[in-house]
Amino acid sequence: MIRINENYTKLKASYLFADIARRVGAYVAAHPESAVIRLGIGDVTEPLPPACVEALHAATDEMSRRATFKGYGPEQGYPFLRELVAQRDYADRGCRVEPDEVFISDGSKCDCGNMQEIFATDIRVAIPDPVYPVYVDTNVMAGRTGEAADGRYEGILYLESTAANGYVPQVPDAPADLVYLCFPNNPTGAVATRPQLEAWVAYARRNKAVILFDSAYEAYIRDPAIPHSIYEIEGARDVAIEFRSFSKTAGFTGTRCAYTVVPKTLLAWDRAGRPHALHSLWNRRHTTKFNGVAYPIQKAAAAIYTDAGRSQTRGLTDFYLGNARLIRAAMAALGLRCVGGDNAPYIWIDVGRDSWEFFDLLLEKAQVVCTPGAGFGRCGEGHVRISAFNSRENVEKALVRIAAALK
Ligand code: MLT
Repeated sequence: MIRINENYTKLKASYLFADIARRVGAYVAAHPESAVIRLGIGDVTEPLPPACVEALHAATDEMSRRATFKGYGPEQGYPFLRELVAQRDYADRGCRVEPDEVFISDGSKCDCGNMQEIFATDIRVAIPDPVYPVYVDTNVMAGRTGEAADGRYEGILYLESTAANGYVPQVPDAPADLVYLCFPNNPTGAVATRPQLEAWVAYARRNKAVILFDSAYEAYIRDPAIPHSIYEIEGARDVAIEFRSFSKTAGFTGTRCAYTVVPKTLLAWDRAGRPHALHSLWNRRHTTKFNGVAYPIQKAAAAIYTDAGRSQTRGLTDFYLGNARLIRAAMAALGLRCVGGDNAPYIWIDVGRDSWEFFDLLLEKAQVVCTPGAGFGRCGEGHVRISAFNSRENVEKALVRIAAALK
């Protein structure tokens, strides 16, 4: 008799954003006249930068000619893109990353969800709360936790991010083997300072742990003192894997391209205490289960690094940060405390009441979708996340409606 992976039964019935989409879908079906504005899931609205579109067209034309047609590419990504990433995103910032340490993929959600596969199931995992739900759910699926009780899974070491610590979790007293960190943070929009990241790297080195550093929102950092990469911290190459995405940087949520850096110096141990290079394990996993990102998409991603591409993508992130400023100002004017939005496209708002109740209120009274903080973990209760990803017109309209609904 075929049996299921029973770890899946420990999960909430549906993924957070699928749950929200279902509730919004039901509301729209019942109120077909309503013009709902979506500031929930962080999905970009502005079109691809022209430099990327030109590269996409040119690469598609190459695919139409026998002489330049391409079949399977290297699973890890074409050298032209891996080299650009290593040079422009790392060497230019003083970080050492070799092109063959860069693995091109179709998204950071997949990479940070899949990465846990190369580690033992009986390791101790530390995960922030609130958090992007993929980190928790994929560890539950893999069997690293017990059952959920009161919004938390048995076996996970939760790293609380609250107003008291500026939404940046401190290193715990207890040891962990695998630590998830995300800066600029989703959902709170908080950023980590250099000393805070140094403390995490020192913790990982002390505990022979690995940090999975999700830096998908790096392009939104404007404060020059904030590190863009964990590899700006001395010693991080020995303890950290970094995830980056073109989704929020260049509007690739529907186009799909991201990358993960696994340094060759990064080790983990087997039961007998023998060291293994995680680069080899991830390379094995990636080449076995993934067939590479389409050539035209990789060409479009490479165009981000041209002069035109750089200024166009900067224009995009500046635009969304402009929305974020408006959202913050409007929330402050309503007397709501909020963080984020200055180096991140998310604003984390203390609404002082049940977050799903507030979500329902905004949906019903303002026809605006936000994300209830409780969906990101127990510490998210009492908060909602508003995303800056939408047109200026929709953001302005949403803010007027929210103000009227909360009067
Ligand atoms: C979010 O809204 O948290 C993100 O868009 C989700 C994602 O990037 O998968």
